Amino acid sequence: MASSLHPFPFLLILSCLIFDVSAAAVAGFNFKEATISEIQAAYANNTLTSRQLVLHYLARITKLNPVLNAVLELNPNVLSDADYADRRRIRLDRSRFPLHGIPVLLKDNIATLPPLNTTAGSFALFGSVVPREATVVSRLRSAGAIILGKASMSEWAHFRSINAPQGWNSRNGQGRNSYALSGGPCGSSSGSAIAVATGLVTVSLGTETDGSIICPGERNSVVAIKPTVGLTSRAGMIPISRRQDTVGTFGQTVADAVAVLDAITGFDPLDAEATEAAAAFIPMGGYNKFLKEEGLKGKRVGILSQFFFKYTKESVEHYTFNAHFQTIKKLGAILVDGLEIANITTILNPNESGEAVALLAEFKLSLNVYLKSLVSSPVRSLSDVIAFNENHSIEEKINEFGQAIFLAAQNTSGIGEPEKAAIRRMARLSVDGLERLMNEKRLDAVVFPGVEASTVLAIGGYPGITVPAGYSADQVPFGICFAGLRGSEPKLIEVAYAFEQATQVRRPPQIT
Ligand SMILES: *[C@@H]1O[C@H](CO)[C@@H](O)[C@H](O)[C@H]1NC(C)=O
Ligand SMILES: *[C@@H]1O[C@H](CO)[C@@H](O)[C@H](O)[C@H]1NC(C)=O
Ligand SMILES: *[C@@H]1O[C@H](CO)[C@@H](O)[C@H](O)[C@H]1NC(C)=O
Ligand SMILES: *[C@@H]1O[C@H](CO)[C@@H](O)[C@H](O)[C@H]1NC(C)=O
Ligand SMILES: *[C@@H]1O[C@H](CO)[C@@H](O)[C@H](O)[C@H]1NC(C)=O
Ligand SMILES: *[C@@H]1O[C@H](CO)[C@@H](O)[C@H](O)[C@H]1NC(C)=O
Repeated sequence: MASSLHPFPFLLILSCLIFDVSAAAVAGFNFKEATISEIQAAYANNTLTSRQLVLHYLARITKLNPVLNAVLELNPNVLSDADYADRRRIRLDRSRFPLHGIPVLLKDNIATLPPLNTTAGSFALFGSVVPREATVVSRLRSAGAIILGKASMSEWAHFRSINAPQGWNSRNGQGRNSYALSGGPCGSSSGSAIAVATGLVTVSLGTETDGSIICPGERNSVVAIKPTVGLTSRAGMIPISRRQDTVGTFGQTVADAVAVLDAITGFDPLDAEATEAAAAFIPMGGYNKFLKEEGLKGKRVGILSQFFFKYTKESVEHYTFNAHFQTIKKLGAILVDGLEIANITTILNPNESGEAVALLAEFKLSLNVYLKSLVSSPVRSLSDVIAFNENHSIEEKINEFGQAIFLAAQNTSGIGEPEKAAIRRMARLSVDGLERLMNEKRLDAVVFPGVEASTVLAIGGYPGITVPAGYSADQVPFGICFAGLRGSEPKLIEVAYAFEQATQVRRPPQIT
């Protein structure tokens, strides 16, 4: 199978480009750390073209991807797409197309039309054909973005087996953390985060059901936005649970992650109920206007230090977070320290919160709907996927990692009384938990260390933004997560941007 389904046509695409690549050496332009606004400025003064930028990324992917495994597939038409963007640039009203000519990488569970595949990293979906591209992808294109390709991810968004390492999938193996190659990149949006961290692309999309954007964002020292559920359409996303799934963004800066968010939010008839409910949250003119250096002034920020931030006094984390809290205060925020979310240990245990029971049943139902909607596919149901894995146990590493979550999901039969009770319980935990705390203490945002509280956000459908916070003693990045109630993105963006501008923690990985 490995030879007939070879997933790496990079060399084919690139062999004819060696000459062109040298032309991409644009004097003085820092490709590796280029932000959207710097790229747009260089486009505007005619010192850079989209073709040059794409050629740079292709060359860098060819060089680094064999080590990082961040990119799963390249769009074979990416250069003609770049040329088209270059031709059209002159005639555009630039303010209306902030992503014009900007290359974007998509997590592999976000639907793209052939020749790009949509497989969640699994051979089971290799060659399947989606009925239409995901709404978020159409929106990126309308905003002028160029689709560079598909990002590697934890196979099936880490919902096949708890034993599989985060960042691993059968199609291109283990993704790597560029700050500490021996450390994990986290997941499941691993490739999306690695690629942005290492300058293989400008920005990317990921998805989260519980932690899958926030965690790789933190671990790869990039900015990651996990939006309120429904703010971005899930139509075309290989599902786990429509109650928790959300599509979000990665950038080297808050401004870049926000620019991509602005392009993909809004009502979508193909995901009508959730996007209609969340559309009321979207501010006129989008989120860009909340990038304010004064964004922390007067904000009430809760520190959940009763349960989180329990680092030893000598640790880098302890020192760093305390310094950050002082900075947040200096920038005019009111710190409300010593807080706790009611029932936090219950919330963080999927067996006790109800999350495990609900996700298993929701996954089977929604995956079966997704697979049946495909134009063509080697598999049409979860039970086919399980059989496929058994039939291809070597490629899918079934003996090593198993497929216990799939088997448990297959064993469910719809949303019955136990599942309904589990869903009610999670709603109740959210109302009694983060919601009550934020209302009682009149908070604008709360602060969590990295991904530790991802389940609080997951079961409530709440948003979070992770910003680089520091590097541990063994060089592994850690992040600070600003979170709030549904629809609180404007405040979270203000807070995250002000924090980022004041602290400037992120530094590029050493890998060249
Ligand atoms: C063009 O814009 C880029 C990005 O802002 C800048 O670095 C460069 O100096 C500019 N070059 C010219 C010739 O204006
Ligand atoms: C998509 O999958 C097919 C196999 O079905 C493969 O031939 C093709 O190269 C893949 N596309 C890309 C862009 O890798
Ligand atoms: C959460 O904790 C409160 C007390 O703090 C308790 O009354 C409530 O029943 C708990 N809720 C759940 C769902 O466990
Ligand atoms: C939840 O239950 C499963 C299956 O019984 C078990 O393997 C897992 O360790 C439990 N998780 C927690 C956090 O208790
Ligand atoms: C698995 O193998 C069996 C026996 O060869 C075959 O009948 C079945 O169609 C295969 N299923 C999948 C999904 O590959
Ligand atoms: C399947 O469900 C039954 C009862 O609903 C349970 O007894 C059994 O342990 C489950 N099997 C798996 C693999 O989860």
